Amino acid sequence: MTDPSHAPTLSVIVPCYNERPNVAPMIAKLDAALAGIAWEVIYVDDDSPDGTAAEVRRIAQTDARVRCIRRVGRRGLASAVIEGALSSSAAFVAVIDGDLQHDETRLPVMLEALRTGDYDLAVASRHVEGGDNAGLAGRWRHMLSDGGIALSQAFLPVKLTDPMSGFFMLPRPLFEELAHGLNGQGFKILLDLVLSSPAPLRVKEVPATFRERVAGESKLDLLVMIQFGGLLLDKICGGVLPLRFISFALVGGFGVLVHLAILGGLRHFTGLGFEVEQTIATIVAMVFNFKLNNSITYRDQRLRGPRLWRGMVLFIVVCGVGAIANIGIANTLYESHATWTAAGAIGAVIGVVWNYAMSATLVWRAR
Ligand code: GDD
Ligand code: MN
Repeated sequence: MTDPSHAPTLSVIVPCYNERPNVAPMIAKLDAALAGIAWEVIYVDDDSPDGTAAEVRRIAQTDARVRCIRRVGRRGLASAVIEGALSSSAAFVAVIDGDLQHDETRLPVMLEALRTGDYDLAVASRHVEGGDNAGLAGRWRHMLSDGGIALSQAFLPVKLTDPMSGFFMLPRPLFEELAHGLNGQGFKILLDLVLSSPAPLRVKEVPATFRERVAGESKLDLLVMIQFGGLLLDKICGGVLPLRFISFALVGGFGVLVHLAILGGLRHFTGLGFEVEQTIATIVAMVFNFKLNNSITYRDQRLRGPRLWRGMVLFIVVCGVGAIANIGIANTLYESHATWTAAGAIGAVIGVVWNYAMSATLVWRAR
């Protein structure tokens, strides 16, 4: 039990939206996992219509370790986490989902690691030995998740095999230090913390499994992924859309015209079949785009000689992945009843942001 003459050792921050049925089981699980540790749990609820906050308060009546912050007229996972963590006076703060998908028995392991003083941050990872992400629903979710990981890995100052993890722990004073630099948008608070730190954080990765969600439903949707792209862009260019990006997007638009012209020509004059014709048109358009970007967008760091060929191959690989993401996202949106124009446009925007971000770091690496 928490000693009233001391702040708790650990505050567990639980962002929640429509998690009413998960509240009581979650607190019982925390109680079992954190035996021997002075802990408290802070639910941050965005006025869930299902009465999540009322459920937390009901339990708080008989358990003083349970607190609730209810925000009205606001939504957002990252900002909820920030507010919860900043309301704490404990030595350490942990962030965990309120839907029982994260394995709370990892908490004492994370605390142990931080208490040695050897680490600034403990992250539950699905991608280190012993972890797994069986609970990630669906093929597209896997693709989005893996794509996001690859994308963010390219920008990270530290090695983090699961930068999308929503389950981590750090000393509360460190959180306070980093708070001013946080973007607070969207989902990826962990990434935001790591990118906001002036010195690379010493990270301890703790293997963890990601359970299936039993009650309620996931709130991670495509808007969240778009915000994620925005967060990365924001961190890369410090708030303004750089000229380079605009040039890159214009070249991309030109490439679409080249693609269509070649495809039309091949269809008219050859009988190769759509698949082959489409593949040829795609590759020609990519080479065209690469050349144009190399001479316009990246005029100041133009690749030449062997570096030119290496860059071209990399560019084709990067854009190939971008195309897959574009098609996948547009498909998902279209299946969830978006108009074909909106689905296509959002897919294309995500594709171009991906291509730009990846080729800026991998192909035309600033030297
Ligand atoms: N306060 C608040 N406001 N909480 C929210 C909001 C919001 O707008 N949106 C989601 N949450 C809460 C949920 O209630 C849940 O407790 C937690 O944030 C995670 O949301 P889920 O909707 O369950 O996310 P998920 O299972 O799809 O995503 C998981 O995997 C991601 C990586 O793939 C989470 O662990 C994420 O944190 C993780 O990034
Ligand atoms: Mn979840």
